[in-house]
Amino acid sequence: MSSSLKERIRIADVFSKNNGEKVLIAGWIEAVRIIGGVIFIVLRDRSGKVQAVIKKNIDEKLFNEASELGSEDVVAIKGEVKEAKTSLGDREIVVEKLYTISRATKPVPIVPEDWEKTNINVRLDWRFLDLRATRNRLIFVVTDEAVNALREFYRSNGFIEVFTPKIVSEATEGGAEVFPVIYFDKPAFLAQSPQLYKQMMMAAGFERVFEVGPAYRAEKHHTNRHLTEYESVDIEMSFIDSHEDVMKMVENAVIYSIKKVNEKYGSYIKQYFPRIPEIPSNVPRITLREAHKLLENKGFKQPDPNDLDTEGERLLGEIMEKEYGSQLFFVTEYSWLYRPFYTMKKPEEPSLTRSFDLIYRGTEIVSGSQREHRADVLENQIKEKGLNVKNFEFFIKFFRYGMPPHGGAGLGLERLVQMMLGLKNIREVRLLPRDPERLSP
Ligand code: 4AD
Repeated sequence: MSSSLKERIRIADVFSKNNGEKVLIAGWIEAVRIIGGVIFIVLRDRSGKVQAVIKKNIDEKLFNEASELGSEDVVAIKGEVKEAKTSLGDREIVVEKLYTISRATKPVPIVPEDWEKTNINVRLDWRFLDLRATRNRLIFVVTDEAVNALREFYRSNGFIEVFTPKIVSEATEGGAEVFPVIYFDKPAFLAQSPQLYKQMMMAAGFERVFEVGPAYRAEKHHTNRHLTEYESVDIEMSFIDSHEDVMKMVENAVIYSIKKVNEKYGSYIKQYFPRIPEIPSNVPRITLREAHKLLENKGFKQPDPNDLDTEGERLLGEIMEKEYGSQLFFVTEYSWLYRPFYTMKKPEEPSLTRSFDLIYRGTEIVSGSQREHRADVLENQIKEKGLNVKNFEFFIKFFRYGMPPHGGAGLGLERLVQMMLGLKNIREVRLLPRDPERLSP
C-alpha cells in the first residue's frame, strides 16, 4: 500500500474530524451490506466502529473490489470524513482507497457481536474471535484498570511487589487440591497461593509486600465462580495489632480499584453490563455468628453452623444490600475447623480465628487473616490439622529467628471484576480459562 499505517488514526477520533477531512483508518470488517449501487462497510478497531461508504456510480472499480470483502477481513481505508446520521455516530467515511491487508477464511465460525446467542464453550473455543466483540474486550480493559489500581494503591502504602515460586514442594491451603508436577525426579506441585513465601518475606524484614500472580486449584468445581487457574492479588503486612489492620488495608484497596474503574470506564460499562461498579459508602463487619443469625431471621438455616456456603453468601449479600445498603462487607471470625493451619486463633475463643472474608455482591472475593507468628504455637497448629511437621520444617524455620506479628490476604482478580460488572460466569473474565474440562486453547 502506498500510505504508511503509521498515518492511521483511531476510529474513535474520526468523530471529532471536520467534514471533508482526509483520514486513514484500519481494522476488522464487522459487516458488509450492499444496497443497490452502494456498499456500506462497518469497520472496527479497538477504539470504536464507523461506517464507510462506496458508491458504484462514483468508482466502479473500487465498488467491485469492496464487494469481494466480508466480515473479519482486515483492511485499511483512506477516505473523506462526511457528516452523516448513522447508528454508529454523526460521521461516516467516503472511501477513496481500499487496502486489503488480510482476508478471513469464510465462513467465520462465530459472529463476535452475537456472543449472547453463542454457547460459552463455543465462544471459548474461538476466543480470539469472541474477543473482537467490544463488550467482551471491555472486560479485559476493566481488569487492567482494576489491577493497576490495586498495584498503585499498595505501592503508595509502602508495599513492594514480589514474585514467589509457582513450583512448590508443599500445599498451603489444605490437603488435596493441588496439581502435581514432576520436577525432574522429585514430586512437586503448582502453587495454590504465595502464602508461605509472603510470610517468609515478613521474616526477612520487608514488612509490606504484595504479589499479582497465578494460583492453581485442583478443585473439580463446575461453578460460575471457580477456575483451576486464577490471578491472585496477595498482600502480607507486619507489625499489625489484629486482622482488622489487614481488613482496613484491603477495604481501601478494593474501594480505590472500584473508584478508578468507575471514573475511567463507568459510562462504557453502563452501555454493556448489567451492573456498574458503584462506590460503596460503608463496609460493615459482621462475625460468622452474626451472619448465621441474619440468615436465620429470614428463614435460611445454614447446614453447617461453622461455615458459610455459597448459597449462604449469596443470600447474605442480598440481605446486606437490601437492608443495609452494603454491597461490600466483611464476615469475620471463621471457625478454626475451616481455616488453614497458619491462621491465628481468636485468643479469647480458640475455636474461632482472627480471619475474614470480603463479600462483594454476594460472592467472596478476598480471604485473609492474622497469622500465627509464634513458632511453637504454629507447630502445634500444623499437628492439629493432621499435617506432617517435617514437611513444614522449612516454613517453621522462618519463625524461629525473629518474626513480627503479621497478617495478609488474597484477592481473586477475576471474581472482583466479575462482581464489578455483574457477570454470571467467571470464565468470561479469564482470557483462556482453565476448568476441569478445559485445557485448550
Ligand atoms: O480463600 P483462599 O483460598 O485464600 C488464600 O489463598 C489465602 N492464602 C489468602 C490469605 O492470604 N490468607 O483464596 C483467596 C481468594 C478467594 O477469596 C477468591 O477470591 C479467590 O482467591 N479464589 C478463586 N478464584 C477463582 N477460582 C478459584 N478456584 C478460587 N479459589 C480462590
